[in-house]
Amino acid sequence: MCGIVGYVGKKEALPVLLQGLRDLEYRGYDSAGIAVLNQGKIFRVREVGKVDNLVNKLKGKTLEGSVGIAHTRWATHGGVTEKNAHPHFGSSSLGEPEVEGKLALVHNGIIENYREIKKQLKDQNFSSETDSEVLAKLIYENYEGDLVKAVKKSLPRVRGTYGVAVMHQDNPNLIVAARLGSPLVVGMGQNEYYLASDVTPMLPYTKRVSYLDDGEVAEISTAGVKISNLKDEVVKKDITRIEWDKEQAQKNGFPSFMLKEIFDQPIVFEDAIRGRFNMQEGTAILGGLNMTEEEKRDVKRVVIVAEGTARHAGLIAKYAFERLANLPCEVDSSSEFRYRDPVVNESTLVFAISQSGETVDTLLAIREAKRKGAKVRGVVNVVGSTIARETGAGTYIHAGPELSVASTKAFTNMVTVLLLYALEFGRIKQTSPATGQRLLQALLEIPEKMHSILKQSEQIKEIAKVYAKYQSIIFIGRGVNFPVALEGALKLKEISYIHAEGMSGGELKHGPLALVSKDLPVIAVLTQDQLYEKMKSSVAEVKARGARTLIIANEGDEEVRDLADEIIYVPKTMELLEPLLNTIPLQLFAYHMAVILGKDVDRPRNLAKSVTVE
Ligand code: G6P
Repeated sequence: MCGIVGYVGKKEALPVLLQGLRDLEYRGYDSAGIAVLNQGKIFRVREVGKVDNLVNKLKGKTLEGSVGIAHTRWATHGGVTEKNAHPHFGSSSLGEPEVEGKLALVHNGIIENYREIKKQLKDQNFSSETDSEVLAKLIYENYEGDLVKAVKKSLPRVRGTYGVAVMHQDNPNLIVAARLGSPLVVGMGQNEYYLASDVTPMLPYTKRVSYLDDGEVAEISTAGVKISNLKDEVVKKDITRIEWDKEQAQKNGFPSFMLKEIFDQPIVFEDAIRGRFNMQEGTAILGGLNMTEEEKRDVKRVVIVAEGTARHAGLIAKYAFERLANLPCEVDSSSEFRYRDPVVNESTLVFAISQSGETVDTLLAIREAKRKGAKVRGVVNVVGSTIARETGAGTYIHAGPELSVASTKAFTNMVTVLLLYALEFGRIKQTSPATGQRLLQALLEIPEKMHSILKQSEQIKEIAKVYAKYQSIIFIGRGVNFPVALEGALKLKEISYIHAEGMSGGELKHGPLALVSKDLPVIAVLTQDQLYEKMKSSVAEVKARGARTLIIANEGDEEVRDLADEIIYVPKTMELLEPLLNTIPLQLFAYHMAVILGKDVDRPRNLAKSVTVE
């Protein structure tokens, strides 16, 4: 994930910026660059690979100046090359355009309509393949002596996400920063100011920070920081005092990455849906599909290949593709798909789902599907990863860096993006605009509802204490909540090492019921959907055999009280969206169990975040 650092002040900017880049290394990146403004000139140096490579390249060079911006890039548009690394220049007219420019920009995020903007630019001389250079040129073309105005004129034309920082040679002490979706923090020093994607780079210098919100523009100069919105209204911001050390800051104050990432979900969910709704038509706009209306209509079957948590997200999407779009949908473990002569052809649309974008089984499955002529699209988190590149098209889930091995926020964002795909196909095939609008409206209500579940974390911890003594736990659910049960069980086994099995409530009596006794508790996802009554019967069956039961139920549901030893209440939503909420208590349950049992939550034994061997 890209990282931004900026400095305006009295010190030499270079060492501050380089240390800042190192502090952001944990986010992952593939190239780095730096630009410093000095006496009306901007000089830059960029290099592929680690920050160390950039430092080596800087040896012997003097990059003096006390205003600068720097960037670690994780490729999205264009390969990993020096030319594609940031900062980008907005001008291409200088004698040595590779090192000296008039306007420099660093950008995090994705500009979805960059091709459209690119066509309209006067200067068609591009030195990179990036969307970010297009934005740099757009701001440069809009510049008439006032950098803030140029930025504010340009940003409303952008569809997508950005955290952006810009300098212009004629504004010697100024950085202009703006945010939509990609985080930016301003650090307040004594007549000096810091800018970064998170607080880690500024901790050695200041504890006082201000977080930019979406739609805000910060004018950071030696005279101070002024924050306004795109309508030019001044915004009064609170200053937060950060008491964390570096590691705590990376975890945003949480004791582990996993807990931080669970709590990130309402925020990153917004990133997954931003700019992807067409409310009027009741449909989704996912440019990454890259298919004409006719090609979309020609899709006869959807196949989803993925592993682990990503596969569970796929299993949920199956219900959506079938219900909304009447499209047969098959979900396979990538490792099985490749070795079983899968029947796919030109009318099959294959989605490869992967957080890391590096899972080799999924990569090999894609190659097999492509070889057989299928259309392959990626639903991936890590930008520029192998699967993202090999699929060539698809959609980023925008969950941000996920560092805990057990996947949480990537899961909810995968489900979200796949639901949007199902809706898009649904609207072409059979779903009415009204249903589409209802679904989009229900999605808009999800973050608030997620918050209300997260608030119960302490209560879930108390419940986990009761269950920590058991050797084995069964998770049951039906319909869209069947994959939720699978995911709940996977989370628990991954991090607490307690044996857990997820299954459909309907499957229970076909064997597993033999296991049920007072020593084997059952966790049931029992929200009020079309299979509610059937699920209640399944829970009654296990209760009758002495099992302890924990039920995930909808707020206000009193009927489940007789069936439950413990209940976690979740808000109601549309049935297809239930997994976005119902999975969260199970993530928290697994997390607290692992902590209670003294396990290393972020780095469970024997597991890897990205599995790159078959
Ligand atoms: C590994 C991880 C799982 C993950 C799976 C798929 O097994 O331990 O947590 O769900 O890979 O990873 P991906 O990066 O492709 O989503």
